[in-house]
Amino acid sequence: MEERVGLITGAGSGIGKAVAVKLSQMGIKTVLNDISKEGLDETLHLVHKQGTKAFAAVGDISISDDVDMIVDMTISEFKHIDILINNAGIIRDNWVWNMSEQMWDEVLDVNLKGAFLCSRAAIRYMGKQKWGRIINVSSISYLGNYCQVNYSSSKAGLIGLTKTLALELSQFNITVNCVVPGLIDTPMIKGINRDAIIRRTPLKRLGRSEDVANLIGFLVSHDADFITGEVIGVDGGLGLGIGL
Ligand SMILES: NC(=O)c1ccc[n+]([C@@H]2O[C@H](COP(=O)([O-])OP(=O)(O)OC[C@H]3O[C@@H](n4cnc5c(N)ncnc54)[C@H](O)[C@@H]3O)[C@@H](O)[C@H]2O)c1
Repeated sequence: MEERVGLITGAGSGIGKAVAVKLSQMGIKTVLNDISKEGLDETLHLVHKQGTKAFAAVGDISISDDVDMIVDMTISEFKHIDILINNAGIIRDNWVWNMSEQMWDEVLDVNLKGAFLCSRAAIRYMGKQKWGRIINVSSISYLGNYCQVNYSSSKAGLIGLTKTLALELSQFNITVNCVVPGLIDTPMIKGINRDAIIRRTPLKRLGRSEDVANLIGFLVSHDADFITGEVIGVDGGLGLGIGL
């Protein structure tokens, strides 16, 4: 995978940071995007420790001009883009009757439109080289979750995006898959009742960012060359059964 270049959105924290480290351990050059510079310095430091090239690209993936700028930077620095990890995501939780239009729009814009914009920009280059890998990071909340009508809808939308992109992009040898994490111990879940989640999780722990990064590492490797349009859970069994 030495010559490969991967763009990871939301790489300044949690899962995105672990994915950046995993891809660099695989010898993949990385472009580390986040909306804020804050977390990116640490990710950059961790990636450089692996001895692979990387640079930070600050930008908001829900704005198409920013996305074009990030992809243009990738091409001018590394000449190509082979792997896209649509990882950046936000939550704005509330009961549906208290959910403002703004809370809906913000979540859909980052979580779903952002993945569409990044994919559309990246495939301009992936298509020409006839090789590409796109991984979308959904969530177990796509099944439905209290106070997350915006988030759940965005994460369910990513599954439709994955399957349609997989169909349309197969002619360019671009595979598109979706990972579905359960509860992963990152800043995103800081307000959650951890013990309650652990009790309900068959494997009796929260997920680690590395659990998700390992699955993504497999999906971007040649071992996954014949896998496309798939939706794969990484949740310690949280999505199993009827939850009694
Ligand atoms: N933590 C969990 O339990 C969990 C479970 C299922 C799915 N996920 C998904 O995994 C992904 C990563 O989540 P995490 O837990 O690492 O969260 P996190 O909050 O730790 O990291 C998300 C990162 O995305 C960045 N970001 C937010 N808006 C952005 C934008 N417009 N442009 C670019 N970057 C932006 C943030 O600055 C942050 O660094 C998200 O899509 C999330 O929905 C997380």
